[in-house]
Amino acid sequence: MMNQSNKPVVADSQLASDNQIPHSVKIVEVGPRDGLQNEKQLIDVDTKIELINRLVDAGLKTIESGSFVNPQWVPQMAGSEDIFKRLEPRQSVTYTALTPNLKGYQRAQDVGVKEIAVFAAASESFSQKNINCSISESIERFKPLMELAKQDNIPVRGYISCVLGCPYDGDIGVNKVNEVAQQLIDIGCYEISLGDTIGVGTPAKVKHLLATIMQNIAIEKIAVHFHDTYGQALANIYAALQMGISVVDSSIAGLGGCPYAKGASGNVATEDVVYMLNGLGISTGTDLDKLITAGNFISTKLGRASASKVAQALS
Ligand code: HMG
Ligand code: MG
Repeated sequence: MMNQSNKPVVADSQLASDNQIPHSVKIVEVGPRDGLQNEKQLIDVDTKIELINRLVDAGLKTIESGSFVNPQWVPQMAGSEDIFKRLEPRQSVTYTALTPNLKGYQRAQDVGVKEIAVFAAASESFSQKNINCSISESIERFKPLMELAKQDNIPVRGYISCVLGCPYDGDIGVNKVNEVAQQLIDIGCYEISLGDTIGVGTPAKVKHLLATIMQNIAIEKIAVHFHDTYGQALANIYAALQMGISVVDSSIAGLGGCPYAKGASGNVATEDVVYMLNGLGISTGTDLDKLITAGNFISTKLGRASASKVAQALS
């Protein structure tokens, strides 16, 4: 019998010693950004702030809370300045934001953002559609931003989209992902988040990709970011855990998608990830019941049920 928080049925030590599975996982909550950027219904700043506060209260320590992209491209993120101005600083909580270029960096700095992320792609077509430039141009565009961030002591995460497939170019070779990952590390990103933007990956592909990337980049610097379009995200996370990955991106209530990847569904739901990790005896520092309540809060605002299976089962 499993209890509601899905406590493990075998000792933590036994599970952790089976393979390289980590004892704890850092969850990077991307719902307020990756999730809400793709909702047709615009969510007001008050509601976003309440969502973020609830996520903090549920124990999440890293929350992507906005995006300083061109609001004409992504109107859902237009209120990001207001959000960062109004978020209360909390001990050991980091509110992060996307910044595609110098202008985005400056906007973020004006409202005191303490950690940012740049985002590149492993596919040329996606890069053009998403940020209006080639992959190599994007890396060049990031360089002056990275210089400033270094001077300002702002850590920068690097995303790579389409690591397991592209909506325009189809299959993506692992060597291309590897090359972009190395370039992002070389310009100063402290961590690379590997994004399966359209959720087409399967566990064997995830393992193959990670095995390649890990030849050059320390495992501590690699995160996984899975969208659940084909229902593979939890299996893919489990495969990544078996490879020793300990940073996982997820989105409350499974919100999300990408405005420049047609058909991309939400990220894997945070509630579902936490349930699985609880069952594996892996600590996340989060409270599943509070996560479910936060997910139900935003889902109600969006006028639909949570996309988290765990929330559906336990609500
Ligand atoms: P551009 O048109 O090439 O930019 O867009 P530009 O430098 O030529 O400037 C054109 C206009 O945009 C100018 O305004 C600039 O001021 C303005 P004008 O003079 O014409 O009035 N502009 C800006 N305004 C506000 N903030 C800025 C900014 N930069 C320029 N930062 C740009 C290039 C990157 C800005 C544009 O393509 C853009 O905003 N793209 C956003 C795409 C996006 O947000 N996609 C979703 C996030 S990525 C994602 O979700 C994937 C991820 O989750 C991982 C995964 O799942 O794969 C991370
Ligand atoms: Mg994403």
